[in-house]
Amino acid sequence: MSVRHLLEVDDLTPTELVEVLDLAEAADPPRVLDRRGAALLFEKPSARTRNAAEMAVVDLGGHPVAMQGGEVGIDVRETAEDLARVLSGFHAVIGARVFAHRTLVRMAGAASVPVVNLLSDVAHPTQALADILTLRQHFGALAGRRLAWVGDANNVFRSLSLAAAMVGIRVHAACPAGFGPPADHLARVADLGGEVTVSERPEAAVEGADVVSTDVWTSMGQEDEAERRRSAFAGFIVDQALFDQALPDAVFLHCLPAHRGEEVSAEVVDGPRSLVWAQSENRLHALRGLLAFLLLPLVVAP
Ligand code: CP
Ligand code: NVA
Repeated sequence: MSVRHLLEVDDLTPTELVEVLDLAEAADPPRVLDRRGAALLFEKPSARTRNAAEMAVVDLGGHPVAMQGGEVGIDVRETAEDLARVLSGFHAVIGARVFAHRTLVRMAGAASVPVVNLLSDVAHPTQALADILTLRQHFGALAGRRLAWVGDANNVFRSLSLAAAMVGIRVHAACPAGFGPPADHLARVADLGGEVTVSERPEAAVEGADVVSTDVWTSMGQEDEAERRRSAFAGFIVDQALFDQALPDAVFLHCLPAHRGEEVSAEVVDGPRSLVWAQSENRLHALRGLLAFLLLPLVVAP
């Protein structure tokens, strides 16, 4: 049986994505990690993803071993490939948060167990699964809904826009000049039958939107660009005035951590139509569903 990796959300088919969400909500998830390990590697800081992944592993009967990048020294003490081979000997799954997406591709090429992307410079698929789960819980059917993205077309945007395409949500992204999605990403969304409109006008993006979503202006690894980004993104704050231009029952999403007064106002992120706390908790449920989905076919029947 060949192993499946999850480096980006469209490594799943749209039908499989729904299966993952259903498993995320299963009352009695299969204990696919019974007395088995999960290696969780973090080259960057994490609160939600690490806690969600560790507790998802526990829920599935396994034992998580979380490691900081510095202590294992990816491509310093040994190559990413060697590390993936070594961790495959101890664990049933490897999750990794990396600076360069290529590191994950290399690990997946060498691992004999599933490799899950816990965030890279270009993708955050387990976040997108939690976001779609949150929207499904709130709205029920999602096809035909509209999502406005205001800000940087970053890793979170990329995975979310792919996932949106997979469930029939149309996206309008308002990004400052030079911070929009690359053409190859738009083509990838189009291949899924999705639609992403891109503009530099937050007001145009939120018009008719059921969901308004944003993320930090400066992602991890881009700290030396923070000043330039602060100027470029001025005017791209999701404040109450902007949020009020979306549909009256529109909801707000943010992967967190949030910077109140930068990409979002306190009034919106702490307001009654913000789903951010459910969205955050759904990181656990979505990861549990994903691990169950990836590992179930590999568990030998007793
Ligand atoms: N949303 C998210 O990935 O949070 P962490 O960086 O805290 O894991
Ligand atoms: N875009 C952000 C997401 C953090 C969860 C980053 O990569 O830092």
